Amino acid sequence: MTDDLLARHRAVLPSWMPLYYAEPIELVSGSGRRVTDAQGRTYLDFFGGVLTNMVGYDIPEIREAVERQLATGIVHTSTLYLIRQQVELAEKIAQRSGIPDARVFFTNSGTEANEAALLVATNYRRSHQILAVRNSYHGRSYAAMGVTGNRTWSASGLNPLQVAWLHSGDRVRGLLARLSAGEQVDAAVEDLREVLATQTTGDVAALIAEPIQGVGGFVHPPDGLFAGWKKVLDEHGILFIADEVQTGWGRTGEHFWGYQAHGITPDLLTFAKGVGNGFALAGVVGRAEVLESVPGISFSTFGGNPISTTAGNAVLDYLVAHDLQANAARVGAILADGLRSAVGGLDCVAEVRGKGLMLGVEFVVPGTSEPDPALTNRVFEACRTGGLLAGKGGLYGNVLRMGPPLTLTEEEAREGLAILVDAIRSSAEVPA
Ligand SMILES: Cc1ncc(COP(=O)(O)O)c(C=O)c1O
Repeated sequence: MTDDLLARHRAVLPSWMPLYYAEPIELVSGSGRRVTDAQGRTYLDFFGGVLTNMVGYDIPEIREAVERQLATGIVHTSTLYLIRQQVELAEKIAQRSGIPDARVFFTNSGTEANEAALLVATNYRRSHQILAVRNSYHGRSYAAMGVTGNRTWSASGLNPLQVAWLHSGDRVRGLLARLSAGEQVDAAVEDLREVLATQTTGDVAALIAEPIQGVGGFVHPPDGLFAGWKKVLDEHGILFIADEVQTGWGRTGEHFWGYQAHGITPDLLTFAKGVGNGFALAGVVGRAEVLESVPGISFSTFGGNPISTTAGNAVLDYLVAHDLQANAARVGAILADGLRSAVGGLDCVAEVRGKGLMLGVEFVVPGTSEPDPALTNRVFEACRTGGLLAGKGGLYGNVLRMGPPLTLTEEEAREGLAILVDAIRSSAEVPA
C-alpha cells in the first residue's frame, strides 16, 4: 500500500520536497504524543510535524472547538466581515506578545508572516536593507529566502532585499565558535557595528533573527546577545524582528517567547506552526505605528479564518490552563540531562543543545568538527526502528532534532530518551 503511495507521490509531487526515511511512512492516526502509520506501527512522536503539533494529537478541547465551528456552516467568510474568533485571538496574542500597543496580522504560514514583517519594516524605515543571521531559515518566498542563511534552503538567488549577514551563535565551528559566552556576545556586537559601517548605508530597516535557529539545527546564541545587538540597532532606529515560528508559546520552557532570554522587546514578532496545532495559522505582531505602515490595501484570503482562529484560541487557552511552558521546562530537563550524561561525552557528539522541548544533538567525525551527516542519518533511522520519530537539521544535515508536543509526560520523555540513547550508541558503535 505504502509502496504504491510512494510511487504515486513521486509521480506527481516535486522531488525538491523530500520525504523522511529510506522507507517513507504515512501517518494515519494520532493520539496524545503517539502516531500510527499505515502498517499499524505506532511511534512516540518527538518531532510533532516539525514542532507544529504543539499540544499533541486529537486533543478533545481543540477538536471539539473546531467541530462546533464547523457545525455553524461557516468555514470561511473573508476578512471583509468581522470574525469574532480572529479578534479574540488577536487580543490574546497582542496581550501576550510583550509588545506595547500591538497589532496582529494573521497569515497562513510562517513564510507569509515573515514576508509581512519585512513589508512593514521596509515601509516604515523607507529602506530595503536588512540584517540577517547566518544559518537562519525564514521561509520560502523571495524575501524570506533572501534572509535565509542556508544554501540548501535557498531555492533562488532572486532577492528584493539588500542583506548583510551577522554571525550565528554556532559553538562548534565558525569564527566565534570557541569563545566564551561573554566574549561571543562582545565579538558579535563588534561584528554588527562593522557590518553596519562597511556593508550598509546605515539606514537599515531591520534585523531579523530566530532566538533558536530551527532548520539551522537548534543553534542559539548566548542569552543576552540580542540585547547587545539591540543597543546598537537603537542608535540607528533599526527595527528588531524576532522570528518565533519555532520558539514561541513556551516551547523553550524558561520563557513564553524565545526573545525573552535576551531581555529585549522586539519591534515585530512572527509566529506560526504550534499555535494552530496543525491548523494553518500564523501571523505578525508589531507596534501599531510599525504595523500600520502599509500604504495600500493588503489582506490574506485565508489568514485568520474562522476555523484556524477557533483552533488557535483553543490551543492558546489549553496551553495556558495546563501551564505547558512549565511542563516544557520540567520534561525538557529530563531529556537534556539524560542526553548529556549518556551521550554528551562521546567523541562523535559535538554538542547537545537547545532549551525546553527544543533539543538537538550535533554529530561530527570523532576528534574533529567535521560534520557527520551519515552517522546522523543512521541514528535517525535507528530511532524510527526503535519506535521514535525525530527530526534532522543543521547546515550540514548533521543534527538530530527533537521538538515533541509540549504535553509530553515524564514517562514518555524517559521512554524516548532510552530509544535515543540506544540509537546513538548503536549507530556510533559504542560498546554496551
Ligand atoms: C523559524 C522559521 N521561520 C519561518 C518558517 C516558515 O514557515 P512556513 O513553512 O509555515 O512558511 C519556518 C519553517 O520551518 C521556520 O522554522
